[in-house]
Amino acid sequence: MNDIIVDEPAPDDRIDPLKWFDSPGPVELEIGCGKGGFLLRRAQQHPERRLIGIEWANKYHKFAADRMARWGIANVRTIRMDADQFVQRNLPDLSLTSLFVFHPDPWPKKRHRKRRLIQTPFVESVDRVLIAGGLWAIQTDHQDYFEQIQEVVLQSPVFQEIPFDQADVCEDSDRLETNFEVKYRREGRPIYRLAVRKRNP
Ligand SMILES: C[S@@+](CC[C@H](N)C(=O)[O-])C[C@H]1O[C@@H](n2cnc3c(N)ncnc32)[C@H](O)[C@@H]1O
Repeated sequence: MNDIIVDEPAPDDRIDPLKWFDSPGPVELEIGCGKGGFLLRRAQQHPERRLIGIEWANKYHKFAADRMARWGIANVRTIRMDADQFVQRNLPDLSLTSLFVFHPDPWPKKRHRKRRLIQTPFVESVDRVLIAGGLWAIQTDHQDYFEQIQEVVLQSPVFQEIPFDQADVCEDSDRLETNFEVKYRREGRPIYRLAVRKRNP
């Protein structure tokens, strides 16, 4: 498990994520990986890719890292930290090929909405860190947050919407089966999805 968990970088330290892996490959990031279900399947399906999972809740972070260790997954690293800081301050330019954000905390109370992750400064940072042609896939059960996400992401001229089921997210992209997706589907809640590609300059 010690090989899987990496230390939180210092603020403003631009790190090379590939230094955490034994060999190079396209780097993908999942924000709020929770118990790591998606991360595990993604890593198994794509051993040639290098996956980073960020989770700030200690309990879930440990669970996810332990899960990777139990399955002998070599191409995943996890960090326990704030993903906003990691993307905005630690990741270098053009370092990610894919970004996944599934069921981000919706902060439903009006006075808490400013805590939502996906806002204009974050979108600008994703533009900075994603390579041209890179994929950003988002899924939520929260309609109001989804509308905000669509607005801030699609108002950026660099991102072009693509059909989620044709994006390279999962073999059966209709069923990512993250923990929260399974729970919300059972409750009959709708699931909202957005996939975009960064345009070539
Ligand atoms: C609603 S859960 C979804 C978990 C998982 N993606 C899923 O779909 O089952 C949101 C997760 O994101 C984590 N999280 C929220 N904001 C975060 C942030 N800024 N940095 C890192 N993790 C965050 C929470 O701790 C929580 O585990």
